[in-house]
Amino acid sequence: MDSNAVSLTSVTKNFGPVRAVDGLTLTIPRGQTVALLGPNGAGKSTTISMLLGLVPPDSGQVSLFGHGPERAVRLGEVGAMPQEGGLIPRVTVRELLTFAGGTYAAPLPLGQVLALAQITDLPDRRVDKLSGGQAQRVRFAMALIGDPELIVLDEPTAALDVEARREFWAGMRGLATKGKTILFSTHYLDEADEQADRVVVINCGRVVADGTSAEIKRVVALTTVSVTAGGEVAWLGRLPGVRRLEVRGDRVRLRSSDPDATVMALAEAGAVRNLEVTPADLEDAFVVLTAKERV
Ligand SMILES: Nc1ncnc2c1ncn2[C@@H]1O[C@H](COP(=O)(O)OP(=O)(O)O)[C@@H](O)[C@H]1O
Ligand SMILES: [Mg+2]
Repeated sequence: MDSNAVSLTSVTKNFGPVRAVDGLTLTIPRGQTVALLGPNGAGKSTTISMLLGLVPPDSGQVSLFGHGPERAVRLGEVGAMPQEGGLIPRVTVRELLTFAGGTYAAPLPLGQVLALAQITDLPDRRVDKLSGGQAQRVRFAMALIGDPELIVLDEPTAALDVEARREFWAGMRGLATKGKTILFSTHYLDEADEQADRVVVINCGRVVADGTSAEIKRVVALTTVSVTAGGEVAWLGRLPGVRRLEVRGDRVRLRSSDPDATVMALAEAGAVRNLEVTPADLEDAFVVLTAKERV
């Protein structure tokens, strides 16, 4: 038995001139909850589609539990939640889940799925009468009904408000504790941080960082301290906390892991001119990570 739930090796996918996924390698052991974190267009959905056998890679290998994705899907080893759609209108939640369960050899009992997805109050509700958050939890139940080892969710909370997101993740956590392998994509750093054991950051179709959320945050959670400065500015890059220095015209942007110390040092040096301090921003973080990777 292969101990890895997912193994992608040098996987590449082009859409015409666009390289959506660029030599991506990723191994996920059984039982891990992994966030695939990246901005729009990073290649998250394409990666997930290849992993599910929906899109063939141009090159590289995809393996789930030691065999091809089509076989894994056929065996019910993997359950996926589509970003939208996938729900038939005019039937009840119970009818929908019973039908979906019937397509698997060994589906979970309905009651258990309702509990896991936190929809025990909804089985008799018509599918087209659900709120956005409820519909998302029903899609989640659809992914679970075949009792898969691996659950793949593409931006499961993208369309949800804060409260619905919270409810959704409450259901997910129960599953992770049952030893399932979970891979979900997101462009929210806080969500990856709160929900995943491991965060794989991708940008431009490549893995740019891979680690625990604490490790990722150490890299990406850099505050930007910017000042107006002229002449020789390299010394600013050596101030306390500064991890990176960028010059744009007469503005110097310092990426700092300790903005208090950086600002104090700027003040002592008399270099505070048009000071601006902006908290870590994920888009900035991707720029930092991608630039770092190219060094
Ligand atoms: N079917 C497609 N045809 C053409 N380009 C595509 C297709 N699917 C994705 N792309 C392009 O590939 C890149 C990665 O897209 P995608 O995997 O959807 O990223 P993400 O899910 O991270 O937002 C983007 O530039 C996107 O425009
Ligand atoms: Mg996507």
